[in-house]
Amino acid sequence: TLYTLVALVGGYLVGSIPFGLLLTKAAGLGDIRAIGSGNIGATNVLRTGNKPLAAATLLLDGGKGAVAVLLAGWLYGADAALAAGLGAVLGHLFPVWLKFNGGKGVATTLGVWLALAWPVGLIAIATWILTALVTRISSLSALVAIAVSPIAAWVLLDVRYGVVGILIAALVYIRHHENIRRLLSGTEPKIGKKK
Ligand code: G3P
Repeated sequence: TLYTLVALVGGYLVGSIPFGLLLTKAAGLGDIRAIGSGNIGATNVLRTGNKPLAAATLLLDGGKGAVAVLLAGWLYGADAALAAGLGAVLGHLFPVWLKFNGGKGVATTLGVWLALAWPVGLIAIATWILTALVTRISSLSALVAIAVSPIAAWVLLDVRYGVVGILIAALVYIRHHENIRRLLSGTEPKIGKKK
């Protein structure tokens, strides 16, 4: 329906706000895209050494996903909420303001799941934390958590959530192609380390 399309576009616009880039610029740290992995997400903001700024990036990038879902759900219902969630991840990954070169979508996807179906969000976050405790690698933790979430969504909700979850996971994996290459060659840095 038209409402679903409005939710998708609205979610995209909310999701396209690059909080990591804006916060690091505002803090006088220069362009985050010239640091570490070059990504605009919380993991890379942490490589500047500024922990509160990394935490703020995580919360705001996750929060925008949740806000998009909750707003669309409140205005137009469950289908619109799902569309807004997909839109928010698309916005974070491919923001028009950054010539469609955005982030990797981990925090935003977690925020989307928390708002769409909190048990799925909690399962994904727990998976991220457990993998990070064992491996200390952010990208690997994300890849495991993002793979688990559509399965949880399919089982706990229904096939539509599973399918959107698979679509989001595929996009997040594509945006992690450099991380996957580093993981396979054993050169992916641990959390908080530059190399
Ligand atoms: O959240 C993104 C994370 O999975 C990887 O970030 O900066 O290590 O590429 P980064």
